[in-house]
Formats: sequence, structure tokens, C-alpha cells
Amino acid sequence: MQKLTVNVPSKTYPIFIGKDEIFTHLQQQLIDVNQVVVIVDETVYNLHYARLQLYLPETVHILVVPSGEKSKDLNHYAQLSQALITRHIDRQAIVLAFGGGMIGDLAGFVAATYLRGVRFIQIPTTLLAHDSCVGGKVAINHGGIKNSLGAFYQPEAVYYHVDFLITLPKEHWQSGLAEVIKHGYLSPELLEKVNEMKNLPQLATNVEKFLAQAMTVKIQYVQADEKESGIRSYLNLGHTFGHAIETFYQYSLPHGIAVMYGLCFVHELKPLSTSPYDYLERFEFPMIRLERNDFKQLYHFMQNDKKAIASGVRFVVSDEVYPFTLKHYSYEQLQAAYEQFLQHIEDKGWKTC
Ligand SMILES: NC(=O)c1ccc[n+]([C@@H]2O[C@H](COP(=O)([O-])OP(=O)(O)OC[C@H]3O[C@@H](n4cnc5c(N)ncnc54)[C@H](O)[C@@H]3O)[C@@H](O)[C@H]2O)c1
Repeated sequence: MQKLTVNVPSKTYPIFIGKDEIFTHLQQQLIDVNQVVVIVDETVYNLHYARLQLYLPETVHILVVPSGEKSKDLNHYAQLSQALITRHIDRQAIVLAFGGGMIGDLAGFVAATYLRGVRFIQIPTTLLAHDSCVGGKVAINHGGIKNSLGAFYQPEAVYYHVDFLITLPKEHWQSGLAEVIKHGYLSPELLEKVNEMKNLPQLATNVEKFLAQAMTVKIQYVQADEKESGIRSYLNLGHTFGHAIETFYQYSLPHGIAVMYGLCFVHELKPLSTSPYDYLERFEFPMIRLERNDFKQLYHFMQNDKKAIASGVRFVVSDEVYPFTLKHYSYEQLQAAYEQFLQHIEDKGWKTC
């Protein structure tokens, strides 16, 4: 078992990474709690709820939402909030967010706003969630904009049972790996470990160590800047273009796969320390279909990015002085980078249109 600690102005909380032994800590934490609410998606409920249930009190409120990013919306937020009202959930309750990043963000936002905030615990079940379960960003997508409604609301604890990952489909290993790679660009030690890996199964074998190392990187940035007024924004590396293609694909593309392409795009603006295209190839990321004339629409989505300010779109790019910086780019500069991005992909033998 590995134990990490997050220490931010609003809260100090533990992260347990391991197997069944971590849930004995969860049991302890729930001992005096009268109302436990589990928010979970259908897939995770069917695959893994029976195992979690062994460690929960006899009576819990289970709220199941459909799997997939489309549930991270106002509609499901309203339905869940209404379910808490109908069941007379009070302020002493604890919400368990049991699932991947979608559930963590959605259940976390419900917990952050219900009765002005009830406690919540993250029980992540995807590799990608190593990123989303730390740092307290909770949100839903609204108005065609990713994470447009949200809050900074830290969990009480994180319990990461690595056996849950066994059932993850390949594309969700790739999706999670993309965020590990992103954290690697912020930590040469982690990037070295990624570079030593030849294929995805090697990641699965060493997943506990990778999780702990990648989360340690995230924790450092969150602790330095809880509310993202400065260096925490570097964690958005690859996300401006990533979120744009995620929206372009109407959320049918796993988040991390969009981010992987976002890293490739950033590499065209300012080269990263190692080429992200190499990871695309080595870890057999799925090809996405983008055409030259899709740029206009992608640019529109990039303008909705939360780093964008009135004067234009901003990207996290590598920098000579600090590891990264936030930089403005014009429409023409981004269009040129997009052309190079498509060319680069075609040169690798992949067809984009
Ligand atoms: N809050 C943050 O700081 C932060 C950071 C990164 C990403 N995110 C958000 O996280 C979300 C993406 O997270 P995700 O990729 O985990 O998506 P997800 O939660 O939608 O999970 C992906 C798919 O895997 C399934 N799944 C989950 N656990 C499984 C398991 N153990 N076995 C088999 N299938 C399983 C889910 O049902 C879903 O279909 C996005 O909404 C993104 O915006 C948030």
C-alpha cells in the first residue's frame, strides 16, 4: 500500500493506493456516518460494486447514472441533487464518488453544492482518474463548454484500489497513460520511467508505482497553487486543443486520448522535451479523424477554453526560463500549427481525412 498526503489551505487529506487493505481505512472513516451516498456509473456498478459493498455500512443510498461523459451535465446534476433532497440527506452525510473522472467531477460537484457542501470521498476506478481525483476540481459540462460550471472542492480522502483497473478497456489505459505522460513532461524522473516502457502491459504491471509517482507530481502543483492562479495551470498542458477535439467529437473520444493529441499540437507550437508523436506510435493510440477545414470549428472551441482571455487563446507551452509558461497565439499561428500537426500525422502513415 502507498499513502500520499495532499496539504492545501482548504484541507489536508490522505490518498491510499493499494488493494483490499486500503478499504479497512475507508471502513474506519465511515464508522460514525449515518448517511452514506454512493454515486456510481452503470458500468462500474455492474463490475465492481459488490466488492466495495463488503466495506460499506448495511444501509447506503446508491445513485446510478449512465456511463460516459454525456452524464456530466446539468440534467444529471439536477437529478442527483433532487435524489438527495428526496432522501432527506443531511449535512453530516458523506458522498462516495465511485468511478472514473466523469463520476469524480459530477459527484464532486453535487457534493460541493448540496446544502452548500457535504463531505465526499473519491474512489477512482480508471487510470485517468489519478489526475482527476486529486486537487478538488469538480465540474459539469454546460453550454457546449467543457467544465464550464464547477468549483474547487477537495475530497476527504482518496481510496485507489488497483484491482478495479483490471477490467479497463485498452483505450482507457491509453487515455490514462496520456495524463501520466503529461505529468511526465512536468517531472523528468517520471518521463524517464515512461520512456523505459515498451508497451501498455508494462504499465499495468507497475501501475501502483506509476500512480503514486504521477499523483505526486500533481500534488506538488496543487499544493503550490490550490486555486490555479499561477503554476497549477501548467497541468493543463495539452488541454486547450484536447478539450477542443473532445467537444468536436461530442464527448465520444476518451478524455486522455484527446489530451494526447493536444500534446502533439502543443509540440508544434513549441517543441516538448521528447516528441509526443513517439508515444502515439509506441502505445498504439487510436487514430482520430480530423480534416484541414475542421480548424475553424476547433478554433471556436479553443476560444471557450478557460485559459482564454478577452485578447485571445492561451496555451501552456515549454519555456526556457521556467519549465512551462502560458502564451497567446493568434488565429494564423494556430492554423499553421494545425497544418503541421496534420502533416506530421500523415507522415507517420496515418490518414487524417
Ligand atoms: N477534475 C480534474 O482535475 C480532472 C482531471 C482530468 C480529467 N478530468 C475529467 O475526467 C473525465 C474523464 O475521466 P475518465 O476517463 O475516467 O472517464 P469516465 O469516468 O467516463 O470513465 C471512462 C469509461 O470507463 C468506464 N469505467 C470506469 N471504470 C472502469 C473499470 N474499472 N473497468 C471498466 N470500465 C470502467 C466508465 O464507465 C466509462 O465508460 C472527464 O470528464 C475529464 O474532464 C477531471
